[in-house]
Amino acid sequence: MTLLERMSLPLLRSLDPERAHALGLLALRTGLGPSLGPFTTPRLRTNLAGLALENPVGLAAGFDKNATALKPLSRSAFGFLEVGAATPRSQPGNPKPRLFRLSEDAAAINRFGFNNDGMHAINERLKHRRGIVGLNLGANKDSDDRAGDFAKVLKHCGDNIEFATVNVSSPNTEKLRDLQGRAALESLLQGVMEANETLDAPVPIFLKIAPDLNTDEIAEIADVANTSGISGLIATNTTLSRDGLKSAHAGEKGGLSGQPLFEKSTRVLAELRQHTRLPIIGVGGVGSTEQAYLKIRAGASAVQLYTAMVYHGISLANDIAGGLDELLLNDGFASVEEAVGVDEGLWR
Ligand code: FNR
Repeated sequence: MTLLERMSLPLLRSLDPERAHALGLLALRTGLGPSLGPFTTPRLRTNLAGLALENPVGLAAGFDKNATALKPLSRSAFGFLEVGAATPRSQPGNPKPRLFRLSEDAAAINRFGFNNDGMHAINERLKHRRGIVGLNLGANKDSDDRAGDFAKVLKHCGDNIEFATVNVSSPNTEKLRDLQGRAALESLLQGVMEANETLDAPVPIFLKIAPDLNTDEIAEIADVANTSGISGLIATNTTLSRDGLKSAHAGEKGGLSGQPLFEKSTRVLAELRQHTRLPIIGVGGVGSTEQAYLKIRAGASAVQLYTAMVYHGISLANDIAGGLDELLLNDGFASVEEAVGVDEGLWR
């Protein structure tokens, strides 16, 4: 953690969480963030579905929903960024309060509901991106063609991104998760892949899934993914589960993220890997180098993080990437790829 983070994070944590997040983004935009650029070593450089990453530690969707901090984020240690979710039209999301800190559990609950500036505004900002930036695709709450919305956003923004994520796993848009069923998913992905073909250069498409899926559902999703032409999967989004929480806000509605999600999301990742050789981005509860490494060893080709930054700051990306390099070296791996999935059996 930097000195600035040590001084400012306790202050930010004393504010309303959504306000604190907006202030954190503002601080980044005014140049108060790290400025070294992606952390890299020859061991950390890795290929993710054709994307040449400087390191496998990424920023998860939802942190910079509107792509307003792309420039400062590109100077942070992250090897890749995902912004959004973007929907075709701007929408306000759910009423406030809709973000809750669960400090005793090192967790958060959010029920934002895809508040965002819409694809037109976000696309303008994406034109000025640097490095590897993906866009999380979402659907408008009041849309009469939710599946069509994903293709619409991809068509509009696709020439200004390096990858896109089909997000059918947010718990905060009613019935969105129903799109994870076989028939709906097949048709949704077909529409997205057709839109991808209309771009100047098609981008890798990832599918982001929920952690609250049973064994059969995971197998079915993997089967659809394998035949759909997409490039990879992201496991996982936030959970509806509330097991073992201590914090006062544990009963709030929404998706739970952070430490309590680590084990659940890693099990889904390892199970998914049993059914596919598509690359998987592991996300959920990563707050330390060891946890990032566990996800890689369980089958993740790269990881993403969000909630742990509330507690450790954005320089956590730097600490995790540097720590990963050491762990790989200590275990005799010459590259990230060599460590991917070596422990997948342990998580079943
Ligand atoms: C999210 N997440 C998320 N995911 C997504 O696919 N689209 C989105 O718009 C958002 N928005 C969002 C907002 C907030 C406030 C949070 C905390 C999370 C989910 C996020 O990308 C990630 O999958 C989970 O938070 C799990 O990772 P962490 O936070 O435990 O590292």
